[in-house]
Amino acid sequence: MSIRIHIENCDDSFPCPEGSNVLRAMECLGRRGIPVGCRGGGCGVCKVRVLAGEYRNETISRACVSVEEEAEGYSLACKLIPEGDLRLRVIGKMARSFDATRGGFHFYGTPSAASHRS
Ligand code: FES
Repeated sequence: MSIRIHIENCDDSFPCPEGSNVLRAMECLGRRGIPVGCRGGGCGVCKVRVLAGEYRNETISRACVSVEEEAEGYSLACKLIPEGDLRLRVIGKMARSFDATRGGFHFYGTPSAASHRS
């Protein structure tokens, strides 16, 4: 079964192997739509809200996602196991840097010289 993850902030999507968490799948492909922190469910940097799709959560820190938030679809990408296609929004501490609606999707580094030619 081919599962696809769509990230609304940057309007990007990528495949996720069955049984993998979303963050690991993204990193294996060299993609950067979700901020990466501890990879263990403790820092909250990869916090997302699932907008559509079936999934399950591995054990997540209540310091990062409350019971109420979890019931509303909030999760941590490093603990989020999709069971079908997912559409999600990044909302963690660093989400702003990855948000295409706030001035563009920012990769690390500087813009190429070609982008400054008139
Ligand atoms: S990377 Fe730290 S909680 Fe997911």
